[in-house]
Amino acid sequence: MPEKVPAKVTMEKIVSLCRRRGFIFPSSEIYGGLSSCWDYGPLGVELKRNIKQAWWQSAVHERDDMVGLDTSILMHPQVWASSGHLAGFSDPLVECKTCHLRWRVDDLKENNCPSCGGELTEPRMFNLMFKTFMGPIEDEAATVYLRPETAQGMFVNFGNVLNTTRKRLPFGIAQIGKAFRNEITTGNFIFRSREFEQMEIEYFVKPGTDKEWFDYWVQERLNWYLNLGIKKDNLRLRQHMKTELAHYALDCYDIEYQFPMGWAELEGIANRGNFDLVQHAKYSGKNLEYFDDETKKHYVPYVIEPSAGVDRSTLAVLCDAYDEELDNDEIRVVLRFDTKLAPIKVAILPLSRKEPVVELAKQVYTDLRQCWIVQYDDAQSIGRRYRRQDEIGTPYCVTIDFQSLEDQQATIRERDSMNQIRVPISTLKTVLTAKFNGEDLFVLPPGGQIWKE
Ligand code: GAP
Repeated sequence: MPEKVPAKVTMEKIVSLCRRRGFIFPSSEIYGGLSSCWDYGPLGVELKRNIKQAWWQSAVHERDDMVGLDTSILMHPQVWASSGHLAGFSDPLVECKTCHLRWRVDDLKENNCPSCGGELTEPRMFNLMFKTFMGPIEDEAATVYLRPETAQGMFVNFGNVLNTTRKRLPFGIAQIGKAFRNEITTGNFIFRSREFEQMEIEYFVKPGTDKEWFDYWVQERLNWYLNLGIKKDNLRLRQHMKTELAHYALDCYDIEYQFPMGWAELEGIANRGNFDLVQHAKYSGKNLEYFDDETKKHYVPYVIEPSAGVDRSTLAVLCDAYDEELDNDEIRVVLRFDTKLAPIKVAILPLSRKEPVVELAKQVYTDLRQCWIVQYDDAQSIGRRYRRQDEIGTPYCVTIDFQSLEDQQATIRERDSMNQIRVPISTLKTVLTAKFNGEDLFVLPPGGQIWKE
């Protein structure tokens, strides 16, 4: 086995790998970037899609009590007045009287400016919503907001979903989408940005059963991260103190991840009570009550809200998968992604750029592409190609060599163990499918061979 080196994952290493291999780039980089906005590159977009797909699968497709929505980013401005965001979605902010940098009060450790030591102004509340104008006239009446959470799209559609799906309580609505916040303090790469994506559930329950469902969702969501392959030791729960609860929350737990900069929020699970539905009913004049067939009573449901960040999940998955080990006097960097999250599932590596090896390798490539995202890589030595695939977390490499022309066999090399087996090309799909399903085929078959690079 290659030797473990005491490698500490740092944010610098993650940022550098993401940049180098095409996971994540600074937004508008050729113009010097835009503060706290990021672009997902060819590998990043696949990783992010896989995370969202895993969430949608578990939140919607595998459940009878959930439906999905995709609501618009721009909403009627009254939504944000009713939801309390216009009045309450603010952070206390101070400004340095010398260098004019602005800081969130709760991020400050001292009373002076962390940048230049200058004197700070008194705190004032700063609303985090981005404003824009709808139509050609830029005045108060035309002001709309970029949504700071996807949740409100689900609350205002509660009646539509109830009437069109005939769901009975308890049931939930799930949505994945962009949210925008004019954060005062940003940083730590994609951890806190001004444009980000959320995966949110609004789960409607009968009042009085909310505590039970709250506990259920805390556990359910913790398990989801474990199923993504995130190490248990890097996850923990933290209950909010009364003073830090959002304006709508009766109770809240954060699922925290041990990021390189320390423990920080990955997801919040809140008991929102009936705050949002009551507010929207009051200001829209529409009845948002539920009729309970069993008790023959009308009531406004309570809501349990598990709210996760796609970007924070992506960062956690990257940090958790990052590994370094000593191999032949070199450091091998590996992203040990769970196979369902790996952006590239299989790489086809021909050992020659000459025909007929290329023809056979291309045939295998075309064939496997019907099942998975497959990369064809014929540049540089085989050792370097393996390292490149390790660094982007590709679980399997298939090597086609001159021997393959004779015996119609190919070599499969496993990312984590670096074990290799040789199998008939005609069985590649079956063998890889079994591997992706978690079967350990890297055991010695009768008369077979297992070897290391
Ligand atoms: N609807 C409830 C809500 O929005 P939140 O705790 O403010 O709750 C939920 O946000 C999740 O969204 C967070 O746990 C985090 O994963 C993500 N998130 C919030 N602000 C973010 C930001 N500025 N950048 C990246 N992700 C963010």
